[in-house]
Amino acid sequence: MIKGYFGLTEAPFTKYVPAANLFHSQAWQELSARLDHIVKNRALGVITGEVGAGKSTAVRALSSRLDPIRYPFIYIADSGLGPRGFYREVLSQFGVTPAFYQRDARRQFDRVLMDAYENQGKQPVLIIDQAHLLSASMLAEVRFLTNFQFDSLSPFALILVGQPELRATLRLRAFEPVRQRISVRYHLGGLEEQETRAYIEHVLTVEGDPAGHQQPLHRLPPGCHGPGRTDRRRGQRTAGATGLRAVVEGFSQVAIEGSAEGPSSLRPTGGT
Ligand SMILES: Nc1ncnc2c1ncn2[C@@H]1O[C@H](COP(=O)(O)OP(=O)(O)O)[C@@H](O)[C@H]1O
Ligand SMILES: [Mg+2]
Repeated sequence: MIKGYFGLTEAPFTKYVPAANLFHSQAWQELSARLDHIVKNRALGVITGEVGAGKSTAVRALSSRLDPIRYPFIYIADSGLGPRGFYREVLSQFGVTPAFYQRDARRQFDRVLMDAYENQGKQPVLIIDQAHLLSASMLAEVRFLTNFQFDSLSPFALILVGQPELRATLRLRAFEPVRQRISVRYHLGGLEEQETRAYIEHVLTVEGDPAGHQQPLHRLPPGCHGPGRTDRRRGQRTAGATGLRAVVEGFSQVAIEGSAEGPSSLRPTGGT
């Protein structure tokens, strides 16, 4: 639908946007810089944002700009993950059979990660996505994960990524020891109106047909801020990337059903 109306070669706003086609909003750039900082300093970082804000995409982009040999990238997005499952996952990625008992697996984890760092010149990057769904036991375990050599040195970076509830959970007293170890926090907000327009134009341009049917949008479709979520901190309505897909698809459908030109709000500039 949207593909035909804008003369695109691919359906835009798809789940996997190639790294080269990503839209670099202000917030995106800030997030990317923080992710790089966490990796470089082998720190513990917490990234939050509403569903569709672009968190997982940013993490994917991070992995694509890191040398996989030097920065082994371990991405876990299993909501039912407990400490045992976590150690099993990480250790098996390093080719080590995990011990049965959690305490032993924790020691193995320490040994394997330290060996990778000290003897192999590697700086592993561990990502736990959907971290707002982590069990209390797994969140508490994060403290041990970051407890290397009495806090003086960590051989890896750990990034927890999740919806805003994650921040609230980490504020609980039980997680105070974990909270103390977090050195980078970032909340990825939605796009403001100006950037929303730029984002839609960007997607329609980078995924457009070289024959040139695509044109920048004349005006943001009314309601583009509708499907976004309220940025709780700032009390503003903002649009997440996923919501925009629905809006623009909806508008192109109306355009095709309603008139040959489409609604004025979506009519490309330069057209009639
Ligand atoms: N920087 C970006 N540029 C272009 N599209 C993006 C960007 N970030 C996210 N998207 C789009 O938004 C969708 C949702 O992003 P995602 O990273 O899955 O959100 P989250 O993990 O925060 O829920 C992606 O599938 C992609 O289509
Ligand atoms: Mg995600």
